[in-house]
Amino acid sequence: MEYAVETFDLTKIFENKEKGVKRYIKAVDHVNIKVKTGEFFGLLGPNGAGKTTLIKILCTIILPTEGNAKVNGYDIIKEPHKVRSSFGWFHGETGGRSLYWRLNAEDNLRFYAYLQNVPKDIAEKRIDALLEFFDLTEDRKKLVKDYSTGMKVKVMLARSLLHNPPILFMDEPTIGLDTISAVETRRLLRALNTELGKTIIFTSHNMFEVEQLCERVAIMRDGKIIVDASPSALRDMLRDIHAVEVEIREANNLQEVIKSLGDLQIVKQIVEVKNDPYNVVIRLQVDNEYDAIPLIASKLRAMNAKVLAVRRSEPTLEDIFVKLTRRETV
Ligand SMILES: Nc1ncnc2c1ncn2[C@@H]1O[C@H](COP(=O)(O)OP(=O)(O)OP(=O)(O)O)[C@@H](O)[C@H]1O
Ligand SMILES: [Mg+2]
Repeated sequence: MEYAVETFDLTKIFENKEKGVKRYIKAVDHVNIKVKTGEFFGLLGPNGAGKTTLIKILCTIILPTEGNAKVNGYDIIKEPHKVRSSFGWFHGETGGRSLYWRLNAEDNLRFYAYLQNVPKDIAEKRIDALLEFFDLTEDRKKLVKDYSTGMKVKVMLARSLLHNPPILFMDEPTIGLDTISAVETRRLLRALNTELGKTIIFTSHNMFEVEQLCERVAIMRDGKIIVDASPSALRDMLRDIHAVEVEIREANNLQEVIKSLGDLQIVKQIVEVKNDPYNVVIRLQVDNEYDAIPLIASKLRAMNAKVLAVRRSEPTLEDIFVKLTRRETV
C-alpha cells in the first residue's frame, strides 16, 4: 500500500457553550495529508493547533464533522475496527497515568495484551521481545511506581506495540521528559521506524526535534496545514531567520517603543510582544543580529526605556508563521 494515512478535507468543528453562548471552534480545518507507508511524518504546531484532534479522529476516538480519512487503507468511519487494529497510540501528556503503578512492567503489558485480544502465547513472546527492545528486561518485575518517568514512557511505548500494528501515532511522546530521556525516546522511535519498519506520525511543538527525526514535516496552525515540507526545506527556512529579543521593564510609552523599533530599517517585523507581570519581551525579525543589536539598544536608550536585555534568539515556530504570512502578503 502506498499510503499508511490519507485524509480528505478532514474537518472537526467543536461546539462550546460559554455562559449560555454557543461558540464554534474549527479544530481541524479541511486537512489533506498523505503519509507514505514506512514514513516518519512530523506534525508540528503550537498549543491548540489541532494536532491531537487530528490524531484522535485518525484513531477513531472522535468522528469528523466533515471529510474522511483512510488508515492502513481502511475507512475511519465505515471500518473503525479494522482501523483500530492497524495502529498503536501513545499520548505523552497522560504521562505514566495510563499504567497500573502497583503492577510490574510485564503484568501491565500482559493486562493490555489481554484487552487487545492478543493470544496468550503470542503475547508472552511479544512482551519478552518488547521488554528487550526497550531495554527493560532487567527491571521487568519492578513495580511501575518505582520506575523513572523515562522508563514509564518506555512501558507505554511497548504497550502501543503489543498487537504489532504497522502504524504508530505518537502524540508528543517527549513532553515532560528530561533531556536524556527525550534523547533516548527519540532514538527508540527512530529504531521503531528503521528497524521494525513502522510508519510513524509524530506530533510536537519542538521544531528541532521534528526536523531531526522526520522525513517530512507538516506545520499546523488554527486547524490548517500551512506547510508540508522536507526537513531540509524547513532547515533552509530557519537558516535565514534572524531573530532578536528585547526585554524591558514595563514602560508607559510601550506602544511608542514598539512602533519606533518597527520603524527601524534593519527590523523586518515585530513577531510577538509578551507581557510578563513586570517585564515586556519584544521579539523581532531582523536582517542580521550583529548590526541590529546595537541599533536597537541605542534606539531604546534614546526613548528612555529601561532595557534589561537585547539578545539574539533561536528561531521559533512563531517566526516561521510570521515569515510564511509575510511571503503570502508580498
Ligand atoms: N473536546 C473538545 N471540545 C471542545 N473544544 C476542543 C475539544 N478538544 C479540543 N478542543 C479545541 O480544539 C482546538 C485544538 O485542540 P488540540 O488539542 O487538537 O490542539 P493541539 O495542537 O493538540 O494542542 P497542544 O499542543 O496543546 O496539545 C483547541 O482550540 C481546543 O481548545
Ligand atoms: Mg495536543
